[in-house]
Amino acid sequence: MKRIKRFGVSLEEELFNELNAIVRRHKFPNRSQAIRFLIRKNLTEEAYEDNKEVSGAIVIIYDHHKREVVNKSLDIQHEFTNIILANQHVHLSHHNCLEIIALKGKASDLKALSDKLIALKGVKHGKLVVTSA
Ligand code: NI
Repeated sequence: MKRIKRFGVSLEEELFNELNAIVRRHKFPNRSQAIRFLIRKNLTEEAYEDNKEVSGAIVIIYDHHKREVVNKSLDIQHEFTNIILANQHVHLSHHNCLEIIALKGKASDLKALSDKLIALKGVKHGKLVVTSA
């Protein structure tokens, strides 16, 4: 089990109130859990900005009736086999497909793939989620 370190934190009242608001908004059980979350969020943002190796997923929704969207998406994904771990395709409705692409690699490669897929004609919505854990 990891050793737990305790430390005192001094905050201006305004910041202290903001921390409590974060605890409430995210339904954290206590301030320690909120601080853990904020540190990891910051580490992930730094890893992304410094173009380090990160993990993540792209979620896209597209209309598979739109010409060429499926083929173009596959062509693009075949250019990024070094970062794609897994891919799940769900037929959401008559028109809409949901695709989840799990990724691990340099932040800039994740962003490049995400930008290319989301910009495709026929893609209705897409989002890249990044984590460094
Ligand atoms: Ni489908």
